[in-house]
Amino acid sequence: MAALYAQELQIFYNASSLQVALNQFRAQKKTIGFVPTMGALHNGHLFLVEKCAQVCDITIVSIFVNPTQFNDKGDFERYPRNNESDLAILENSSCNMVYLPTVSELYPNGIDQILDFDIPHITSILEGKHRPGFLQGVVTVVMSLFENVKPTHAFFGLKDYQQYLMVKGASAHYNKGVEVVGLETQRNQGGLALSSRNQLLTQEERVKAEVLYAQMNALKQHKGDDNLNQLLAAAFNEINNAGLKAEYFELRNPETLNNVEQWTKNENYLVLCAAKLGNVRLMDNLLI
Ligand code: PAF
Repeated sequence: MAALYAQELQIFYNASSLQVALNQFRAQKKTIGFVPTMGALHNGHLFLVEKCAQVCDITIVSIFVNPTQFNDKGDFERYPRNNESDLAILENSSCNMVYLPTVSELYPNGIDQILDFDIPHITSILEGKHRPGFLQGVVTVVMSLFENVKPTHAFFGLKDYQQYLMVKGASAHYNKGVEVVGLETQRNQGGLALSSRNQLLTQEERVKAEVLYAQMNALKQHKGDDNLNQLLAAAFNEINNAGLKAEYFELRNPETLNNVEQWTKNENYLVLCAAKLGNVRLMDNLLI
C-alpha cells in the first residue's frame, strides 16, 4: 500500500511539517501507521515496519533516543546511535516517512515533566522494579510522539512486554485514538531476541546470551510440573553459570502479569527474564 504514495523516503525534523505532509492523507481517510524507535535499527524493527505497511496506508518511523527512559546514565551514553545507516535501512523498506524530533519538541516543558500515569501492578514488578522510571519515561515520550504524529495505528515489539501494556493503557487513558498493536519478538538463529543493544555485544557474548531463550524453552518442556519454584531457580542459576548476571526469571499471567504460583499443562503463561552481560542489559520473554 505504502508504495502508492511515497516514491522516496521523506524526512521530517518537526511535527508541523510532518502534519502538513499528512493532511492530504487524513483528508482521504487513509490510515497512518507509526513505528516509534530509538534507532540502531535491526530486523526486529523492519518486521514492525513491514507489518505496519501491510496494515496501514502510510508508514512513519520515528528515531529518538529518549533520555527519560534510561535510569542508568551510562546505558544512555552507550546506546548505539547511527542515523545515517538507519536512514539507509529505511530507504530500502516500506517506510514512507521518518520523523527525527528534537528533545524540545517532545519535551516542550523540559525533560523533568514526566506524565503522571501509572498502572502500579505493572510498574512495580520486573522491569519497573529493576529500572525505576523506565516505564514512566517510555509512556511520556510515546504520548508526546502520538500527539505529534497523530497516527491511527502504532506498532511495538512484544519483547518489551510491560512497555506494550503501559503504552496501550496510557493511549486509552489519554484518548489518543490509536490502535496499539504488539508483534512477536524476532530472534536470530540461536534464539537471541533482536535488540539494538546486541550491537554492543561481541560475537562470543551473543552466543552466551542465547542462554536466556534456551532457559525459557527448558521451562516450557516442564510445563505443569510440580516443582515450579525449583525450575525457576534452576533457570536463574543456569543464566548465571553461563556468565551473565541474572536479574529475574519469572512466570506470570500474560494478561494481568500476576505471579503464577501453580501451573497446569493447558493454560498460557509468560516467562520473563532479564540479565546483564558485562554492562549490557538484556531482557526477553516467551509465551508458553
Ligand atoms: O522500544 C523502544 O525502542 C522505545 O522504548 C520507544 C518505544 C521508541 C520509546 O522511546
